[in-house]
Amino acid sequence: MTGKGRILLLDDDELIISMLARALRKDGYETHLLHSSLKAIEKIIAWQPDLMLLDIDLGEEKNGLDLLQSLHDEGVSFPVVMLTGDDSSASAIRALRYGASDYLHKPFNVEEVKIVLARLLKNARMRDEIAYLKRSRSGHEFIGESPVIRKILQDAQKIARAGVSTVLITGKSGTGKEVLARNIHHWRFSDGEEKDSVPYIAINCTALPENLIEGELFGHVKGAFTDAKADKKGVFELANGGTLVLDEIGDMRPELQGKLLRVLEERTVRRVGGKVDLPINVNIIALTNRNLKKLVDDGTFREDLYYRLSSFLIEIPALKEREKDVLHLARHFLYSFARKYSKIPVEIIAEDAEKLLLGYDWPGNVRELRNVIERCVVMEDMDVLSAKCLPLDIGGRAGSSGERRKKFHLILPEEGLALEEVEKELLRLALERTDNNMTKAAKLLQVSYDTLRYQAKKYELL
Ligand SMILES: Nc1ncnc2c1ncn2[C@@H]1O[C@H](COP(=O)(O)OP(=O)(O)OP(=O)(O)O)[C@@H](O)[C@H]1O
Ligand SMILES: [Mg+2]
Repeated sequence: MTGKGRILLLDDDELIISMLARALRKDGYETHLLHSSLKAIEKIIAWQPDLMLLDIDLGEEKNGLDLLQSLHDEGVSFPVVMLTGDDSSASAIRALRYGASDYLHKPFNVEEVKIVLARLLKNARMRDEIAYLKRSRSGHEFIGESPVIRKILQDAQKIARAGVSTVLITGKSGTGKEVLARNIHHWRFSDGEEKDSVPYIAINCTALPENLIEGELFGHVKGAFTDAKADKKGVFELANGGTLVLDEIGDMRPELQGKLLRVLEERTVRRVGGKVDLPINVNIIALTNRNLKKLVDDGTFREDLYYRLSSFLIEIPALKEREKDVLHLARHFLYSFARKYSKIPVEIIAEDAEKLLLGYDWPGNVRELRNVIERCVVMEDMDVLSAKCLPLDIGGRAGSSGERRKKFHLILPEEGLALEEVEKELLRLALERTDNNMTKAAKLLQVSYDTLRYQAKKYELL
């Protein structure tokens, strides 16, 4: 939505309608006037309003209700408020039956009109957002106390409060890019009166099939392609006035990169198949776990877009590079999951567990740490987080994630077993499955060719 919203007014009474339009413009709305139903449908659709005020009696053969009907047949989804000249409620009721969102009696009170408009626009915006809110994960506070994270948080707050319109956040998977994006949105808009209704929309640039992503980003008009049965707003329009997060920007296909650059430079969007450029005022936060600079060097990411995005660049380091955060985050998750699962929070991390947590590489970064702690809280009855509560993957002794258990169906017999026997048996199985192809067998067991050859000889399997 542009500014407060784009309002289209259609009434044959030029005086009344221009007075009303002036009052609305003064209030921050963008307005467009029409005085007859002639070619109105095309004009209305081309201008793409957020809401329309439509007089019932247009002094023509076709009245406002006919027009309303045609608009619905066209599949428009913006709210339409009917203006009626007579006092009886009959025409108003008809209007509602025809799908109008509300009606106002003439002569109208401008303040009353504004209240109705504000309510309907807010509802329309909320309806548009619901689907997206479901998709976007609920945000948490970005936790961290290592010097590098403190600096990042300071920078991010400065960027948010200054109202910088384009930010790029990079970092390996699970380092908290999305969490930080949400925090930036929060800092940017937390002071506003209507902070709860400021849109925050996150879209994954690769999650949608190629033929849908463009419509999803920029919207489309009815008939733009076979499945475009009605006009649809893209995420740039839906996020107008708020934040749009473009996730996995590094994987966006090249021609879309060009279109995105145009939107960023001109600050307007045009729906697919549309004829008008709609001004937008959106804070863009782009995220990627790829090395964008390298993608530029490889020629898969546009250099101009890279520079446009990276004037405000935040690079979140991997978790293993910020040791101080590991225990801090572990304590945070111990507490928050205890609350979630109604358990008494464990406050102590034993020395052996500390060692394991600090010694592990955390390839999945904070997400992995979060999952490990969640599992401990749910599965282990513990007063203290000790090594035996931690999963095997990170050097602990507790049964690990389902994935690991699924991988190995090993049963240790009561009387014990020689480890070498297990090794020999696995080698035998690998060679059997690959018809004694040592290269393939080595691959199956994730060892080098030389190691496999050496072991196979040792156990006389060849
Ligand atoms: N600093 C942090 N404070 C609190 N929670 C965090 C932090 N960093 C990450 N997390 C947690 O880790 C999970 C993953 O974070 P997030 O989704 O932001 O990662 P990402 O960098 O976007 O990863 P990907 O590239 O895989 O999408 C989140 O569910 C969040 O709970
Ligand atoms: Mg993410």
